[in-house]
Amino acid sequence: MASIDRSDPVILGHVLAEHRELFQQIMAARTAFQNGTVPSRSRVDATIATLRSLREHLHHHFQLEEEGGFLEESIARMPRLSTAATAILDQHPALLRELDQLIGRLSAAEISAVEWKLATADFDRFSANMQAHERSENAVVQEGYNEDLGLLD
Ligand SMILES: [Fe+2]
Ligand SMILES: [Fe+2]
Repeated sequence: MASIDRSDPVILGHVLAEHRELFQQIMAARTAFQNGTVPSRSRVDATIATLRSLREHLHHHFQLEEEGGFLEESIARMPRLSTAATAILDQHPALLRELDQLIGRLSAAEISAVEWKLATADFDRFSANMQAHERSENAVVQEGYNEDLGLLD
């Protein structure tokens, strides 16, 4: 059995706390897409700023997960989780690309009603994929550590 680093639960707790923070940020960004009509340029710019900040947090969060070793630790404890953990980490670049695509779409000089609809669909897809990602991540980690650390929702 792999030796257990005392800092593991600390890293793990940090990652799970970040999941909650990211969820709040995604919910905050969602309010911008609740209106079916195209917003003013300044509101679109504010939404872009929110999404850029979200992207930065997300990038940092993914790096922590990739370098923090807690998914590897889950695999070391339970090798059958290897496929799931690898698939989860492989989703990171695609999630960032989805967000980049949305930011790019909103950055166009003129946003038509059709473009706004597409942007809303982009956001909904990103949001659903992101939540599915974090859910499966939480599940792998919880299974790998095989104990409820009292940190999961
Ligand atoms: Fe992740
Ligand atoms: Fe995560």
